[in-house]
Amino acid sequence: MKAELTDLEKGYVAYTRRSLAFYDWWVLGISNKLFWKCPTEEILELYREHLSDNHLEVGVGTGYYLEKLLPEGGPRIALLDINRDCLEVANSRISDYRPEIHQENVLEPMVLHGAGYDSMAINYLLHCLPGSLETKAGKVIDHLAPYLHDRGTLFGSTILGADIKRPIPATLLMKHYNKKGIFSNTQDSLGAIMEALSTRFKTFNVEVHGCVVLFWGKGVKESYREKLKS
Ligand SMILES: C[S@@+](CC[C@H](N)C(=O)[O-])C[C@H]1O[C@@H](n2cnc3c(N)ncnc32)[C@H](O)[C@@H]1O
Repeated sequence: MKAELTDLEKGYVAYTRRSLAFYDWWVLGISNKLFWKCPTEEILELYREHLSDNHLEVGVGTGYYLEKLLPEGGPRIALLDINRDCLEVANSRISDYRPEIHQENVLEPMVLHGAGYDSMAINYLLHCLPGSLETKAGKVIDHLAPYLHDRGTLFGSTILGADIKRPIPATLLMKHYNKKGIFSNTQDSLGAIMEALSTRFKTFNVEVHGCVVLFWGKGVKESYREKLKS
């Protein structure tokens, strides 16, 4: 008999080679615009503002944003994901850049060898993770921050499930994904992501487009850095 998937596994097993072949079309082409009311162009703009030439991409999906926007001139790029299929698909898309590959669970502490990064992206990752937004965002940042340079930027986006106005089709699709465990975001609110960022970064920003919050945090707080070391 097949063992029941854990909540953690439900958040990433849906991304298989087969489903990833449709990901850009369905998620980035259709869902972002018609359901979540946050056209992919808004997320591309977030990348244009914050992507550096020493970058760690976390929760890589198909590698769409990197393929579109990586700068010329040999940037250092690393890919981190729990899911081997996503790592392989994203890697094949930007193989010319020879990305470093890390298969890791962002909800667990990790050891990343090599120098730290100037930018890190966590797009559409948090709504896939189980737990309250404040806790899961906090854990993810706690695990990544040791590898972010002092003046570095962590940026991303996540689909909110609480305290947000949604068109009916978005409510139905979100309900379906939450039932399957692909999303775990029914309680995810704007306040929670603001709390996670404000306690860890010197400056931060959040911007809501439809059901999606785009965010960035810049400059890791010294007090937080000390706390992480202890
Ligand atoms: C919805 S996709 C987002 C892809 C891309 N970043 C985007 O914005 O379109 C979520 C990604 O997060 C990864 N993921 C889910 N749970 C994870 C975990 N616990 N640790 C690391 N990666 C995870 C999935 O494998 C997948 O690549």
